[in-house]
Amino acid sequence: MNDFTYYNPTKIEFGKEKQNNIGKYIEQSGIKKVLLVYGGGSIKKNTLYNDIVTSLNKHNIEFIELSGVVSNPLLSKVNEGILLAKENTVEAILGVGGGSVADSAKAIAVGSKYDGDVWDFFIHKAQITEALPVFTVMTLSATASEMNGNSVVMNDETKQKYSIASVLINPVLSVVNPQLMTTVSDEYLAYSAVDIISHCIEVYFTATTHPHFNSRIVESIIKTVMETTEILLENPNDYDARAEFAWSAIQGLNGLTPAGTAGGNFPNHMIEHSLSALYNVAHGAGLAVVIPAWMKWYKEQNRAQFERFAKELFASDDAEVGIAKLEAWFAKIGAPITLKDAGIPRDGIEALAINANETATMWGMGELYSKDTIIEILEKA
Ligand code: NZQ
Ligand code: ZN
Repeated sequence: MNDFTYYNPTKIEFGKEKQNNIGKYIEQSGIKKVLLVYGGGSIKKNTLYNDIVTSLNKHNIEFIELSGVVSNPLLSKVNEGILLAKENTVEAILGVGGGSVADSAKAIAVGSKYDGDVWDFFIHKAQITEALPVFTVMTLSATASEMNGNSVVMNDETKQKYSIASVLINPVLSVVNPQLMTTVSDEYLAYSAVDIISHCIEVYFTATTHPHFNSRIVESIIKTVMETTEILLENPNDYDARAEFAWSAIQGLNGLTPAGTAGGNFPNHMIEHSLSALYNVAHGAGLAVVIPAWMKWYKEQNRAQFERFAKELFASDDAEVGIAKLEAWFAKIGAPITLKDAGIPRDGIEALAINANETATMWGMGELYSKDTIIEILEKA
């Protein structure tokens, strides 16, 4: 096992009706004024928006609103939020929604404490040294943004979908109430399942050191996600399945699974972000296209782990069977598994590869994943 530092300062309030306490949680942090960030309106289709407002009012937390965050969140909206936060001197950012809302809240938190262009942090021109505190109430479980320090934002002008990472933007507290997720569409449930699985397998397959403990956590998360997804597609109101899915999602990208591993990286995410950036594909849908192709391309570089994966997840000794079964499961739950399924033409591959290679370079994998290598992978999709 490799040496590591594990530090995750986010408090999770998990369970039924906990959104009604959000005002109390914020008040306990000594905060009196927040920017409330949300998406395209799903929080107004039930009582959630009213629950949040009632709780904030009850605890005398003043709030300003920023709505309209889209999936694959945009830098222009983040900049709008930064302006609002600065003009109104808010003390914290409260995101209510899915990963896109949480990520926007985090980027606003960073930009609100910076005089320059927040994009500087995404292109590594500036280092995060300060941020407003972030709180979230999650309505969709997939990204684990509720318990990590990542934010992924798309620059609408340059079509670059880049990320920042800092413990300073780990939410102070996140409310995770599985009841709020019963209205997530089957489509997004499937994409979320793929995303959670992807967070686990990136390092599982690419690390040069991967302790058995870490492999077992990953396999447990994947098994739980596969089982609960199938239950939820049948019955969206199954609370326990929804809860296990949500808690698995959080464990998938909160720093737990890679702690003690060495040498891992995130090639599937690196390539997928270009599908989202250039074709506005949902993140999990793009991953369902990229993962099987990448696995077929990569498997000989770590065959033993691919054999282990096949055995633990699909009771087969054959690495190829493991890949085929995962791909078939993605299709079964309704995710696209080819570029064509995702509405991306073959002649789009070159531009995707150029865009992805820029991300690879940002992430220190530019040589491992040249434009030609990415083309070779995407040709398999
Ligand atoms: O905007 P609203 O109206 O809220 O609708 C959303 C959106 O259309 C809807 N939704 C959310 N909760 C719902 C609901 N609809 C009905 N009932 C509910 N309870 O679902 C749609 C998708 O939401 P979004 O937030 O985009 O999904 P997700 O949580 O999958 O987030 C995806 C974004 O997170 C980034 C992705 O790249 C993508 O931009 N990621 C963030 C990561 C992180 N912060 O660590 C890591 C991930 O790998 C990922 O890259
Ligand atoms: Zn992801």
